[in-house]
Amino acid sequence: MKPGSRSFYRLTKPVVFLMCLLPLAWLLLRAFEVADFGLGANPIEELLHQLGRWGLKLLLLTLLITPLRRWTGWNWLVRFRRMLGLFAFFYIVLHFLTYAILDQSLELSLIIEDVIERPYITLGMTGLLLLIPLAATSTKGMMRRLGKRWQKLHRLVYVIAVAGVWHFYWQVKLDTLDPSIYAFILAVLLGTRVYYSRRFQKQ
Ligand code: HEM
Repeated sequence: MKPGSRSFYRLTKPVVFLMCLLPLAWLLLRAFEVADFGLGANPIEELLHQLGRWGLKLLLLTLLITPLRRWTGWNWLVRFRRMLGLFAFFYIVLHFLTYAILDQSLELSLIIEDVIERPYITLGMTGLLLLIPLAATSTKGMMRRLGKRWQKLHRLVYVIAVAGVWHFYWQVKLDTLDPSIYAFILAVLLGTRVYYSRRFQKQ
């Protein structure tokens, strides 16, 4: 089976799809305490944190596709980018819903107050709102219809990733190691993007 062939995608796409669902399945198993895996002393916080982390991981993985494709010449990787991006959006929406429903009991006034008064929530919300037009225009039809504007619009994903990492960094109280690792990975990805765009401009 040749990478990039129809049969290759027919086999690998469902596998990647199921792999993206694994973190959610694991969280659900823990939430329902199947086989003694609980979510710990503060289940809502654990759920919120894990969903936020998976959203960010998938966002960074989406950003990795283009540089990885350039380094390796594996052009078929690009066919997985949309799925990964949409799964990032899916986990971030679940993260937001956990916050809004389980943490704030859907009290709209409390949510609005948080968004206005807590800068890390403002940043997170900005990231989520910016993701909506990207998810809405992720179809092939929209790509064709928007042409060059599609690429420009989808560059917003870098702004969203910066907002997401910053949001993570800001809410951590003491140990900044984890958000620093995410920030480092994002810096490398942004650096690579700048490097390639300069190289292609010169050619
Ligand atoms: C691009 C969008 C977003 C990303 C990538 C993201 C990611 C994250 C990450 C990685 C964490 C930390 C997890 C940990 O400490 O283990 C976090 C925490 C949190 N996020 Fe988000 N988030 C986003 C949007 C939002 C939105 C829209 C809200 C609510 C309006 C929100 C509310 C929170 C809250 C309440 C926490 C926990 C703070 C705490 O425990 O003190 N996030 N988020």
